[in-house]
Amino acid sequence: MWVKSFATIRNTTAFIFNRIASINFIGEQRILRDFKGHALSIRLKYVQHKGVKGIRNRKSAYEQFSRDANETKTSMPKDFGEEVYPEDSVNLNDRVYEELVSNVMNISPTSSTQNVFVIQPYVKWGSERNTLSTPLDQLEEAKKLITSLPNWRVGHAIKIPLETLNRKALFGSGKIEELKKLLNEHNAKETLTCIFISKSTLSFAQKHFLEETFKLPVLDRYTVVIQILRLHAISAEARLQVAMAEIPYLWAQAKDANPTLARKQGYLYSDAQRDILKSRERKLRQELERIRDHRRLLRNKRKQKNYPVIAVVGYTNAGKTSLIKALTQEQNMQPRNQLFATLDVTAHGGFLPCNLEVIYMDTVGFLSDLPTGLMECFVATLEDAMLADIILHVQDQSHRCKEAQREHVVSTLQSLKNNIAGTHEIPPVIDVGNKIDLISSHEQPQPRKDIFYVSATERTGLKELTLEIERQILTVTGRRTITMRVRNGGPEVAWLYKNTAVTNVRADEASAEHLLITVVIDELKMQQFKKEFLSANHP
Ligand code: GTP
Repeated sequence: MWVKSFATIRNTTAFIFNRIASINFIGEQRILRDFKGHALSIRLKYVQHKGVKGIRNRKSAYEQFSRDANETKTSMPKDFGEEVYPEDSVNLNDRVYEELVSNVMNISPTSSTQNVFVIQPYVKWGSERNTLSTPLDQLEEAKKLITSLPNWRVGHAIKIPLETLNRKALFGSGKIEELKKLLNEHNAKETLTCIFISKSTLSFAQKHFLEETFKLPVLDRYTVVIQILRLHAISAEARLQVAMAEIPYLWAQAKDANPTLARKQGYLYSDAQRDILKSRERKLRQELERIRDHRRLLRNKRKQKNYPVIAVVGYTNAGKTSLIKALTQEQNMQPRNQLFATLDVTAHGGFLPCNLEVIYMDTVGFLSDLPTGLMECFVATLEDAMLADIILHVQDQSHRCKEAQREHVVSTLQSLKNNIAGTHEIPPVIDVGNKIDLISSHEQPQPRKDIFYVSATERTGLKELTLEIERQILTVTGRRTITMRVRNGGPEVAWLYKNTAVTNVRADEASAEHLLITVVIDELKMQQFKKEFLSANHP
């Protein structure tokens, strides 16, 4: 009974909050939208953007839209004993915090439809110029970020050349007028609900000025990525990491803010809000430290079981999950055409051609032009990649910006190496050029020794790749392939099957009582075998 009434109250509260959550403002007219997107056209004096109420709600919203929450399930070798990180002790649904985050970050409810005006600023000359990808490619990526969110669409997208990205208002007065005109034209055709400026972070002053000028909420890359991460974070571990990723942004905005102006606008945090933020940050740090310990424990378990580990890394959407699915034949995995589809490092068991059982680790994808603070929150999970035996670096070979993406991943791995204790060297990396099926036959690249061209979905090129993985794994882990002559039906046979990867068994032509067994074995196991069966006192 108590449970039932509690559930009713909770549901009612969630309903009210979700309704409040979808307030947007457009121009002078304030519009309240319900979930079906009907404009109720209410004039409100005081308007705030309220985000969804808590990460748990977001999770269910995500499930509602994509119905594939099973994705984080892992398929492990039987005796591996993968453990799930225990439920978090930080209150991720804190209402006051959620109000704060939705005010400052303009995080919107997933269920509300958003029609976004996308602006890609770029610098033509000088040190701020992005030399790795063209403005058009950057704009395409910005649009993809927006369409990664359920019910978000791009109303209009433009790229704007600037002399610098560090101007106080970002744009000069002429550009501002042009943009205002353009926004009005579009608003006359279809209502725009927010502006996404694809720059890593906007300062408080820039954002505030632009929101006042355009009368629309303004989002930067950091906040859009947080929005995506919030939706895709399903496990307790991923949700804690995303929650932690929000904190540096919130502090930075407060630091930027002009106190008088900010207080007037209601943006500067009250003492109570600051206390909440501080205590949340402290607790999250503690929790993330526990996650790291937990991961260390899992790694040690894997070490004890002696499974070689292959970390699969790469730019977001390059095809990491698809490649693991192809290599392990794991049917449960569901790759999605979305940025940051994978937020949890998941482990998947597979076999190399020599029959050796290995673990493939799927990892969070990388994205350029993000402040390091955001990626740092995923260090605990990326630690697994850095401490693997080898790394597969998956690259979307069909992507126009493949070189830029490649460089970004390589430099991020380098910086992770310096951040993660105990990592002196990056494990050996195998470059994999994926999505080769999307390249026309006359543009297919010539075979090369330093990159393996594959199509994860068409399953081409996988044989050569797995042979190279095998070669490197055997070298790195000190394993070798040897053939042993053992008694047919003797305990040695059972021992070898239990402790090594048996690749071939045949009868010994010289003796009907013996078998020739070829195995992949490491030095430790070899010593154990010798001690057990070849010692002088063995019968
Ligand atoms: P994140 O988790 O976002 O980092 O993505 P990911 O790197 O794990 O990529 P994922 O495997 O989820 O694939 C992204 C999209 O690319 C999906 O729509 C896949 O079907 C598609 N894809 C992956 N590999 C191939 C390929 O070899 N060929 C083609 N045509 N599409 C592919």
